[in-house]
Parts: sequence; C-alpha cells; structure tokens
Amino acid sequence: MNEIKIFSPATVANVSCGFDVLGFCLDSVGDDMVIRKTDKKGIFITKIEGFDLPFETELNVAGVSALAMYNAIDVDFGFEIEIYKNIKPGSGIGSSAASAVGSVFGMNELLGRPFNKTQLTAFAIKGEAIASKCEHADNLAPALFGGFTLVKSINPVQILEIPSPTDLYATIIHPQIEIKTSESRAVLPKEVALADAITQWSNVGSLIHALHTNDYNLLKDSLHDVIVEPHRSKLIPHYDDVKKASLKAGSLGCGISGSGPSIFSLSQGLEVANKVKEAIKLVYAETGIAFDIHVSKINTEGVKIV
Ligand code: HSE
Repeated sequence: MNEIKIFSPATVANVSCGFDVLGFCLDSVGDDMVIRKTDKKGIFITKIEGFDLPFETELNVAGVSALAMYNAIDVDFGFEIEIYKNIKPGSGIGSSAASAVGSVFGMNELLGRPFNKTQLTAFAIKGEAIASKCEHADNLAPALFGGFTLVKSINPVQILEIPSPTDLYATIIHPQIEIKTSESRAVLPKEVALADAITQWSNVGSLIHALHTNDYNLLKDSLHDVIVEPHRSKLIPHYDDVKKASLKAGSLGCGISGSGPSIFSLSQGLEVANKVKEAIKLVYAETGIAFDIHVSKINTEGVKIV
C-alpha cells in the first residue's frame, strides 16, 4: 500500500470540569487527508484545501507531528500529505488535533502499524504544541482512540479510554469568530482557590463514574466547571444565554468546547439534542453573528481509513 485516505474527526476537549485531561470524539465533522509514500526522503505537504495553512513542514501542525514520527524511524522513502480541511482553525473543536493525528495515523498504516495509539499520541503532541504553544493531548486522544478519553499523563503519555453511554448526543454551536487557544489560555489564572479545586476534582471523578455506569443524572450533576469557564466565557458572545437556553431545553450540561468559541451541550437521546439545537439557534439567530450548529453522536471509532 502506497497511499491512504483517512477521516480525522473533530473533538470536544475539557468537557466542562476536565481541563486539559478530558475529551470526546464527534462524528459529524472532520478533516479528510491523503498520505502517500514518495521516493524522496522527508515530509512534504503537497496540498491544502479549505483553509489557508502553511505548506512549510516545520510550520504545519500535520507536518510537525509527521516529522516527530519520521525522525523515530529509519526508511529510505518519504511521505506526502494532502489536507482537505473542514474543521475551521480556532473553532474549539480540535482543528489542529485532527491535522496532527491524521498525518501520524496515516503514516503508521502505510508502515504496517509499528506504533500503538499511545505512541502516536506522543508524536501528535509535538504538532498540537505549535498551535497552542503548550503540550496537551485532550483533543488528540479522543481523535485517535474515539469515544471519551482521560489523559492521565502526557510525559509519559498515558491515555485511559472511558466508555460512552449509547444514548448520549452532543449539540455543538460554532459562532464564526476565531479564538486562538494560546489567547484563551492566557486569560486563565495561574493559581486556583482550594475550595474551587475540590469542587472541580469531585466533578471530574463523578463524571467518570457516571460515564462508566450510564448514570445520566450524575452526568448532569457533574458537568460543571468552576475554574476555567468563569474566565473564558467572557470571550464568547452570548455564552450565558446559550447555556441557559440549552439547559432549559433539557440538556444534561453545557460548556465551552475546548478553548472556544464553540459551545457544546450533552443530551440524553437524539430528540433532546435536536430540541437543544433549536433553542440555541434561536439565541444566536438574534445576534447577527454567523454560526453553524450540528448534532453528533459520540464517535467511538476515532480516526479511520476511508
Ligand atoms: N485543553 C485545551 C484548552 C484544549 O482548553 O486550552 C484546546 O486546545
């Protein structure tokens, strides 16, 4: 096999209380990529469609993660990467992670799978880091493993796969404004109050338990963020109105997707998720800010060959 086409999915990181450690995978949106072996040694970005991103390998997220993997192998050929980008950079649904994951996943397949997903995460972290100016894997892990994941550690990389209740749906609204991850990290405090930390880790623990036991009531009770949301929500126009409308329409919880501006809601059942979609739509329709909105099942597969 010399060429492979893959789908690299969008993801929601943090999931309210799990800043930098929790995430889940979406199936409604993702990037397409083609990875191809080439006689010339090295990594080459040969095509980018959808958004204006750098072709220089060292400046491109997919290129940097590919290089991290390429430097760990010894082969007498190289790889070309084509990126068909559907996930808008700076949208908060793991655009850079999808690129970083896509290149290493595709190369690994063409090489006969010498690396496992944990090792692929370690390579992809290098690409993700050039977009957000820090190393984290809460978008990468769900894109690679699918479903919900918990990043136990990034050094060494340790990813825990968390089960997904089958009737859980996400509603995602993406206001068409850009918030750079580096900027929305800059507004966060360096220290947190112990009382807030206690609330947060109690919510993370109970959220994980709820996912393991299909306990939707506990899930609803756990989807709170007292540390990050109060600072970042100010960057997202009409955030509080969206959250109010989402909860009123019956969602289990609503929070900032990754570093924003996208906002996610989780609901039990497709019908509620669609009701939440309509309620949120009404809020944003009045603002004059362009947006797109979709409902997604939790994607338990992650990045895949198409
Ligand atoms: N955990 C990261 C953040 C995800 O919220 O900054 C976005 O890359």
